[in-house]
Amino acid sequence: PETPLAQVGVIGLAVMGSNLARNFASHGHTVAVYNRTVAKTEAFDTEFGSTGTFIAAPTLEEFVAALERPRKVIIMVQAGKGTDAVIEQLRPLLEEGDIVVDGGNAHYEDTRRREAALRGVGLHFVGAGISGGEEGALHGPSIMPGGSRESYAALGPLLEDISAKVDGEPCCAYMGTDGAGHFVKMVHNGIEYADMQFIAEAYDLLSAAGLTAAEIAEVFREWNAGDLDSYLIEITAEVLDQVDAATGRPLVELIQDAAEQKGTGRWTVQIALELGVPVNTIAESVFARSTSGHAGLREAGRGALTGPDRTITVADRAAFVDNVRAALWSAKVVAYAQGLDQISTAARTYDWDVDLSEVARIWRGGCIIRARLLHRIRDEFAGAQLPTLLAAPSVAAELAESQDAWRGVVGVATTAGVPVPGFSAALAYYDTVRAERLPAALVQGLRDFFGAHTYQRTDRAGTFHTLWSGDR
Ligand code: NAP
Ligand code: ATR
Repeated sequence: PETPLAQVGVIGLAVMGSNLARNFASHGHTVAVYNRTVAKTEAFDTEFGSTGTFIAAPTLEEFVAALERPRKVIIMVQAGKGTDAVIEQLRPLLEEGDIVVDGGNAHYEDTRRREAALRGVGLHFVGAGISGGEEGALHGPSIMPGGSRESYAALGPLLEDISAKVDGEPCCAYMGTDGAGHFVKMVHNGIEYADMQFIAEAYDLLSAAGLTAAEIAEVFREWNAGDLDSYLIEITAEVLDQVDAATGRPLVELIQDAAEQKGTGRWTVQIALELGVPVNTIAESVFARSTSGHAGLREAGRGALTGPDRTITVADRAAFVDNVRAALWSAKVVAYAQGLDQISTAARTYDWDVDLSEVARIWRGGCIIRARLLHRIRDEFAGAQLPTLLAAPSVAAELAESQDAWRGVVGVATTAGVPVPGFSAALAYYDTVRAERLPAALVQGLRDFFGAHTYQRTDRAGTFHTLWSGDR
């Protein structure tokens, strides 16, 4: 009998591509698979061929021939050169109306460039952010596709089918044209950096207050039953509970304290600087990772700099734990507000029609930052034009309530010499955006003094320059 055509094809059979292909197959789709190194295609077929309907194609020509039209091809290869190489080889084999999806971690500017090039030859190019790591790819990721609306009509149902589901709704939605999907995925990772930094600061504070790793794990488990309920809080308890078999000590105390990064958090900050969007919590999180890795700087600092010994004496442990929870919650809200602000600024800049309520909705499951808070954010943005998440009345009210604890924690940390760059950056942002008046006025005066950069006045219209007394 003739082999039926495949509804979708996956190129790149490393862990992410393999798992996505298996996910499609487990949802009843026939999947064509191809990998540059044929041995990997064969290995995939041997290992998983019996678990679904796969067409393992040894060549790209056979891969393309196996696909139903319009063809839907998902590229899941090493981001950058790998993606460009695959697109170049695919392009002559495809026909007008076919859809090429890049599911890798592409920079959204690359996605914009590729989309424009393929649009020029009648192909749809979809930059789809896919979050959730290997497990997500196999069992249901959060998917953030960007590209033509028309391509989403054909592709969307397939992607929605394999995505995570929350309350029966797929964690996949159309994000906007060209680079919108990869942009949203990038900001997701930026928020992920901030979330992890806040968690690390909470751990550090509780350690300084004398709690053991196991006790802190218990605290995180309790937090996970409340407002902070999220994947990252849940796995923090597990990481803190892990005991090293060789030494009998908590493994976290044996891991080198130098955090690494692959770069998506850094992109978020670089682009925020270009767009002029303040994302100081994300920036501090990226800097905290890089500072932790500066061995020479830290060695010099340890040798030369004195300060308090990082001991926090608490009279009421339960109250302190709850204050740290409030600081963590407040900072987290600020990080989400900043990330969403960055997305809406980019949407205005690039003319993307991004719906922040939809963004929050598809982040509720499958991805690393999935959290109960996202249900609320989805609701707050539904049908509302909020200038910032912080201005949502219920959010503002809760921040009003949590802020004494938050300020107290930043104060205690500062006095004890425990660095809390995330918590304090979030608080500085909160106090900055709510200020009636900022010392930016003085900065303007200084700029006018040394550079005749001019300034505006509060009491009169116009542009002013002063002959300052010392300015001669
Ligand atoms: P990867 O290690 O990033 O890439 C390996 C795959 O790319 C292999 O199939 C390899 O083929 C192929 N490849 C590399 N250069 C190529 C070229 N010039 N031409 C054709 N194929 C080429 O794989 P991954 O970890 O599965 O990730 C795939 C994508 O998903 C990446 O963009 C990654 O950033 C993104 N992502 C990863 C995760 C994760 O948790 N790992 C999560 C979300 C997104 P050969 O076998 O022939 O070498
Ligand atoms: P997710 O949305 O599931 O977080 P991700 O962005 O790929 O997916 O991140 C999952 C893990 O893969 C992270 O540890 C990430 O590293 P960083 O936290 O340092 O960004 C890592 N990762 C991301 N892109 C990668 C790449 N191109 N190659 C290898 N690892 C990568």
